Amino acid sequence: MARVTTTGARTPFIAGNWKLNLDHLQSIAFVQKLAWSLKDARLDFNEVEVAVFPPFTDLRSVQTLISADKLPLKFGAQDLSEHDSGAYTGEISGAFLKALDCQYVIIGHSERRTLHNEGDDVVAAKTAAAVRHGLVPVVCVGETAEDLEKHGPSAVPVAQLKAAIAGLTAGTDIVVAYEPVWAIGSGQAATPEQAEQVAVQLRAVVADLLGQEAADATRILYGGSVKSGNIAGFMREPNVDGALVGGASLDIPEFSSIIRFQKHVGV
Ligand code: PGA
Repeated sequence: MARVTTTGARTPFIAGNWKLNLDHLQSIAFVQKLAWSLKDARLDFNEVEVAVFPPFTDLRSVQTLISADKLPLKFGAQDLSEHDSGAYTGEISGAFLKALDCQYVIIGHSERRTLHNEGDDVVAAKTAAAVRHGLVPVVCVGETAEDLEKHGPSAVPVAQLKAAIAGLTAGTDIVVAYEPVWAIGSGQAATPEQAEQVAVQLRAVVADLLGQEAADATRILYGGSVKSGNIAGFMREPNVDGALVGGASLDIPEFSSIIRFQKHVGV
């Protein structure tokens, strides 16, 4: 599916970040059930793009299932190496992800920035590696509670996005995920107004660095305690084009309901 529809509108993108959950056998059962649930609900996959981001060891199983059953779901990895090959024990190359038909890869999630000390330089190198291998990077940015108090909501995400994409050529296809660190897994989501305010700033960064056309086509997601009860508010905002969902993406009825936001949102 194209990132923009025939009418030029950005295709909404709902992504499930499984984090360190579900092994490869569980992933097969999960993706099958999710696909059935969306089919039962008669989801129009032209109206929304759905992607799951399982752990590395699940990717081959998910790929095989999606391709054998021709499921209208996308998938990607949660991380990749900035290197293409070589003596990097434990790392996964973008080339390997591409060979598994991954379309997307999450980069710079706050858990990697914090728990694995990934700074802006590493995030930029990984973003470049993704693009080099034909993967669309889902670049995550977001402020901590302390940043929010000191600098407001947009300063840190804007600086992080600039650093991540400064080296890319104009027109590069990326997805941006605005995820306030304090909202992730906390049950306390940002308000739709705040998400919109930051999304506008982030789109301006994309326009500056990748051009207006890329900025118009780039999906900007909100992430952080998204659930079926609050997705509607985010999706009503003109610059929020989807969601990166953690915890709620592991619950099929809940994730399915988030994906079907159009049914209960009235947008
Ligand atoms: P959450 O996580 O939905 O569980 O808050 C979002 C994320 O980390 O991407």
